[in-house]
Amino acid sequence: GGHTAVSLFYVSHKIYAGKPGLAGLPATFGDENACETLELFCEDPVLGLKVTLLYTAFSDVDVITRSVRIENDGEMLYLTKALSFSMDMDNRDFTLLTMHGSWARERMLEHRKVKKGFMGVESVRGESSHQEHPFMALAAGNADQSQGEVYGMHFVYSGNFIGQVELGQFDTVRVGMGIHPENFCWKLEKGDSFQTPEVVLVYSDTGYDGMTHQFHELYRNHLIRSEYKDKKRPILINNWEATYFDFNTEKLLSIAKKAAELGIEMLVMDDGWFGHRNDDSTSLGDWYVNEEKLNGGLKHLVDEVNKLGLKFGIWFEPEMISPDSKLYEAHPDWAIQIPGRKPVKGRNQLLLDFSRKEVVDAVYEQMCQVLDQGNIEYVKWDMNRNMTEIGSPAWPAKKQKEVAHRYMLGLYKILENLTSNFPNILFESCSGGGGRFDGGMLYYMPQTWTSDDTDAIERLKIQEGTSLVYPTSAMGSHVSAVPNHQVHRMTPLNTRGVVAMAGSFGYELDITKMTDEEKEEVKSQVELYKNIRSTVQFGDLYRLKSAFNSNEVAWMNLSKDGKKAVVSYVKKYAEPNVIPGRLKVKALNEEALYEVIETGEVFGGDELMYIGLEIGELTGDYQAKSWTLRKID
Ligand code: DGJ
Repeated sequence: GGHTAVSLFYVSHKIYAGKPGLAGLPATFGDENACETLELFCEDPVLGLKVTLLYTAFSDVDVITRSVRIENDGEMLYLTKALSFSMDMDNRDFTLLTMHGSWARERMLEHRKVKKGFMGVESVRGESSHQEHPFMALAAGNADQSQGEVYGMHFVYSGNFIGQVELGQFDTVRVGMGIHPENFCWKLEKGDSFQTPEVVLVYSDTGYDGMTHQFHELYRNHLIRSEYKDKKRPILINNWEATYFDFNTEKLLSIAKKAAELGIEMLVMDDGWFGHRNDDSTSLGDWYVNEEKLNGGLKHLVDEVNKLGLKFGIWFEPEMISPDSKLYEAHPDWAIQIPGRKPVKGRNQLLLDFSRKEVVDAVYEQMCQVLDQGNIEYVKWDMNRNMTEIGSPAWPAKKQKEVAHRYMLGLYKILENLTSNFPNILFESCSGGGGRFDGGMLYYMPQTWTSDDTDAIERLKIQEGTSLVYPTSAMGSHVSAVPNHQVHRMTPLNTRGVVAMAGSFGYELDITKMTDEEKEEVKSQVELYKNIRSTVQFGDLYRLKSAFNSNEVAWMNLSKDGKKAVVSYVKKYAEPNVIPGRLKVKALNEEALYEVIETGEVFGGDELMYIGLEIGELTGDYQAKSWTLRKID
């Protein structure tokens, strides 16, 4: 009818234990003991629009989730903006923390004072993106890493988003987050409904560390569904930076053999095993094995890798189609495109139109056929271009602005099917590194490749930013070769190990080309990681020195029972004429004694927290050190 206003009135509400799922969408979950839900029913009597505001409060973490369900009981209408939450707060001299970046520079932290006017974050790239992140935190007054009040907001969605903050005329702050209204318009006929994804709202009165603990706890217990949620993640070796597209069965087996000797637990075969793909210009969509490279076939390779005692993992980029592919020859209309316009290629490829069921089903079938061929225990799900010129010949003109969100629903559907059909597979999501590190993907896949930048020094900031929200177990982190392939920096193997051990650990280099001395070092790193793996992957993370404002960077992981801690330290640049420093740790028991496993020395918790560990002398740039602490009973 041309109306542009909505006015909602309270009708009724209900409160119950537990939390409902959100149809077709990833969302946090919890049983009757874990959380309580409020459904607030509202109505616009003029439009005949029914809106349910869903709030769930968790009992084991300071978290409320919020989403909105919209049902049209009146004349046809277009939904042009539907955020998942909006909240007004008193102005508390807030600082807004957001994350920004680019490919290979993901999740750089930005702090901005909240002043009059609009501020925020957004993506209209059809993915949560390398550039901005669906996360905002408001830190009150002088809150910092360890103290003060922080309100964190995170959108559980992998597509276009907006997060906005406004300090208004009466000195109150309005915050909101949801699907970006640009390029979004959803047609609701009478009887149709729309469910928004959810926003997670976290409260901490112990600064950013506290906020991180709430997010990590929530995501470990109430978002990640995989069987691997609480399982130790295997130490893997990935052949991407070792061989790029140039590999065959023999090469992979030679890497696997050396890896097995050094204690590594899984070989991951990356891009290039299918179609006739020898560079990035072909074959996406043709998910059948290239037997010229994998002579003997996939099953043979998997069996041989298993015989060496390693698990086997494989790479896919299921959302894509190369114009040079059999799939494109058969179905050129399956690519996202605006009819009549030549679609822009990114990395020589186009996006498949996941808003169409037949496309999603066809990709699913192809993947199942590959995964059924052998004992495949890990899948890396990659995605290497953004959405541009969004359009689909499958939908009428009035529904073209539904395509970006329908794409996400198609993506979530295939992930739902795959993860239920292959519950034993460990899935790792990836998007040109960390372009789609988000809560939506985490629901299906318990870990994400953090960044294509594997340089230890660059990773310090990337991992610190990522760790603000995502559990350590979710951050894929590998030791790569020097000179590093992204920044050409030389760093010691020890430093690369210490930094990669801050996440789900692995290697990404040609291990067969390492010297004997280096291989021995890798063996010790693998042994060390196996000893500290549970503490690192499932303990609490504390940031001791931030990569964003210091030459020294340090963090610690403390086991849940407080009995074990791993303290890690990196000094970026050497300084002349300084005395060896100390590193104060956090969260130990002041009264207890702790043994430093590496040296056998024993210190009081109070000594370690208020005087600190002796760092000792470090020579040269990019040096690192780590300590393992054991509480003495
Ligand atoms: C981008 C990923 O982030 C890399 O790790 C690698 O898998 C390449 N794609 C392969 O094309």
